[in-house]
Amino acid sequence: MNHEPTSAGQLTGKVALVTGATSGIGEAIARAYAREGAHVILTGRRAELGESVAKQIRADGARAVFLEADLTEPGAPEAVVQAAAEAFGGLDLLVNNAAAFAAGPTHTVTEDDFDRITTLNYRTPFFVTKAALPHLLTNQKSKIVNIGTLGAVKSWAGASVYNSSKAALENLTRTWAIEYGPQGVNVNVISPGIVVDAPMSATVLAQVDVEAHILPTVPARRLCTVRDVADAAIFLAGPGSDYLHGTRILLDGGLTA
Ligand SMILES: NC(=O)c1ccc[n+]([C@@H]2O[C@H](COP(=O)([O-])OP(=O)(O)OC[C@H]3O[C@@H](n4cnc5c(N)ncnc54)[C@H](OP(=O)(O)O)[C@@H]3O)[C@@H](O)[C@H]2O)c1
Repeated sequence: MNHEPTSAGQLTGKVALVTGATSGIGEAIARAYAREGAHVILTGRRAELGESVAKQIRADGARAVFLEADLTEPGAPEAVVQAAAEAFGGLDLLVNNAAAFAAGPTHTVTEDDFDRITTLNYRTPFFVTKAALPHLLTNQKSKIVNIGTLGAVKSWAGASVYNSSKAALENLTRTWAIEYGPQGVNVNVISPGIVVDAPMSATVLAQVDVEAHILPTVPARRLCTVRDVADAAIFLAGPGSDYLHGTRILLDGGLTA
């Protein structure tokens, strides 16, 4: 069922860094956090898109800045986090969302593909988080939300590099929860199935008859939306999730139930 976004001010005054917020899920999370009262820092390579989203958020009355960066460049995670922490004075929330997909069975994967995907999906969140931790640890009440995938739990042919890189991020989620939970940082992961209105699903949706082959296997009888992911991301950033550490929210509409 569609529903209009509402705001309960759950994140009032929090400073949130959302990587990969120029489109899709990251954009939806940045907008949702802003509606909840957070000051948001958006990142991405497509400056025109990122500036436009930040401008719209500001027009709606929230505070937002866009930082242009290719997070796979050496030193970029540290530089982006530094600039983000300076934007509004500190950091309370980090969403590790930036990622890329590569399709194709393992025997067709090139070393370049492997390095590009694992660098962005695994190495980047590792070093963004490492750089953000000194800021997150200063206030004893911070949250890290990682964006994983259903594919880390239930894999499929043709996604070996992508799904395994996200499985690594899910494992980091649990390790970080153990390492930093005692110091007041909640670390959790949202793992969606196909998100029908987010760009990364385009390759899969172009190859599959969703009505015939996917929806009959999904108890919710619909695919995930960016709104579903943003709602879960608000929950994991807000006070309602204070007792969640190292948990996966599996947004699969019941597929694996
Ligand atoms: N769509 C789905 O069905 C689905 C399902 C499960 C999980 N997910 C996850 O959801 C997240 C968002 O996916 P999406 O569907 O919303 O796709 P998307 O719109 O392509 O989002 C990817 C984001 O990452 C950024 N990005 C890509 N390469 C980058 C780089 N080298 N440096 C910095 N930023 C980079 C992109 O911005 P620029 O291009 O501007 O750099 C974009 O904002 C990803 O973590 C994905 O794995 C998606």
